Amino acid sequence: MLWTPENWGSVPCGWMRSHLLGLEDLSREEITILLDLADRFRNEILESSENKRKLPLLSGKAIVNLFLENSTRTRTSFGLAGRRLGADVVDFSAATSSVAKGETVVDTAKNIQAMGIDAVVVRHSCPGVPKLLANNLKDCAVVNAGDGTHEHPTQGLLDALTIRRHFGSFEGLKVAVVGDISHSRVARSNIFALLKLGATPIVCGPSTLVSPYWKDYGLEVSYSLDDILPYVDVFNLLRVQFERQVVRPFPSIREYAHLYAMNGERLRRCKKDALVIAPGPINRGVEITSEVADGRNSAILDQVTNGVAVRMAALWATINSVKK
Ligand code: CP
Repeated sequence: MLWTPENWGSVPCGWMRSHLLGLEDLSREEITILLDLADRFRNEILESSENKRKLPLLSGKAIVNLFLENSTRTRTSFGLAGRRLGADVVDFSAATSSVAKGETVVDTAKNIQAMGIDAVVVRHSCPGVPKLLANNLKDCAVVNAGDGTHEHPTQGLLDALTIRRHFGSFEGLKVAVVGDISHSRVARSNIFALLKLGATPIVCGPSTLVSPYWKDYGLEVSYSLDDILPYVDVFNLLRVQFERQVVRPFPSIREYAHLYAMNGERLRRCKKDALVIAPGPINRGVEITSEVADGRNSAILDQVTNGVAVRMAALWATINSVKK
């Protein structure tokens, strides 16, 4: 069947937000709406040969990718997601823009908006920049593509979608987020989503990178990867975010890898069907070895495919909720 805007339906009425700034404020129902939409986009569009992998639900809409921090996966997949839905997508590069001449991010966004755009996808090293744009732009959706150490909501959603597609549900699942929790927006978005969806998140890493206060949110905190290997269902292996650290949190990368890298020997002590995911970019030999990253338990590239579907869902839902 050829999918068209007419027979595809509309965004479920439980979704009313014109911005996607984080997962902390979303309800379980809102997260589930986005996951269900993304699942449909993946099954019916991305994996459909009949539709030539396009569905013009956002035909005539314009989206600007405002990435003021480096990105491979998020930037490319937002661009692809917009184009798969028939929107015009403009990529904005900080290095070649007037941001380098001192223009503020709000002025930059307002100038871009004056050209008549429907959505801004923003990545910035400062927490709160997406919220700042949402407060200052009119008639325009704002989607957070990662703001400093705050949140990376579409990464949290694509991780959740990958887990749900693999296990069918979240009930009873123990999901360990391993590594540099303190500096990770991915960890925060994962934890907020997993708690709401009914999984049991565990945070694991060196004590210099994992706050004991996560216990106050009901999380298990572990400083030993070896201790949790036998009973965890999903390992989400984070990169050590050296660019955000002001002091070195461990003596050497070698020591970190010795204690926290998921390698073949550790994987053999896990459940047979344990799922290994990682937001990327991965550092082979630091948080994960090649044997694991490229092995049968790894869903790392499946996450990237799910990322396009999740970003299609986020763009369609938010743009359709903007009141003009
Ligand atoms: N996972 C993630 O955000 O990757 P990029 O930095 O490449 O976008």
